Amino acid sequence: MAVEQTFAIIKPDAVKAGNCGNIINMIERAGFDILRLQKGQLSPDLAGLFYDEHKERPFFKELVDFISSGPILIMALQKENAVADWRKMMGATNPAEAEEGTVRKLYASSIGQNAVHGSDSNESAQRELALFFAEPAPQQAPEAQAQ
Ligand code: RTP
Ligand code: MG
Repeated sequence: MAVEQTFAIIKPDAVKAGNCGNIINMIERAGFDILRLQKGQLSPDLAGLFYDEHKERPFFKELVDFISSGPILIMALQKENAVADWRKMMGATNPAEAEEGTVRKLYASSIGQNAVHGSDSNESAQRELALFFAEPAPQQAPEAQAQ
């Protein structure tokens, strides 16, 4: 399996509830390398760009309002099969349908406030990583590259 990078968000509901540490712990235990991690708050404009694929959906405004409503953590995660493995760990979009042990089963409260985001394909991952992290994440620590 190929080593991939995916883009993840810990959404405002999970940050507010103090669940970042637990979620990051799950990510590390699953073998992801956290290449980038940054706290911030999205402007409604950037949130709209991020969720561009949903702009015709009836819940678009709600989606943009929610993701820009408070602080979030954004991450670049790397491992073999990272895109699919992070989606599996997140669980179903609606927490009522999420499998036991998934992040959304544990920490999401509704389909709108569902704790985490993950890229849904390699193509989306590249687009989302480029949108949030101007330069690509380093593949190796600088000391390793110098040798
Ligand atoms: P995400 O993009 O946030 O990782 O979630 P996802 O792939 O599991 O779901 P997606 O279809 O991309 O939808 C993006 C977000 O829109 C909200 N949503 N609401 N009311 C509804 O029927 C509905 N459907 C989707 C969810 O918060 C979902 O995370
Ligand atoms: Mg999605």
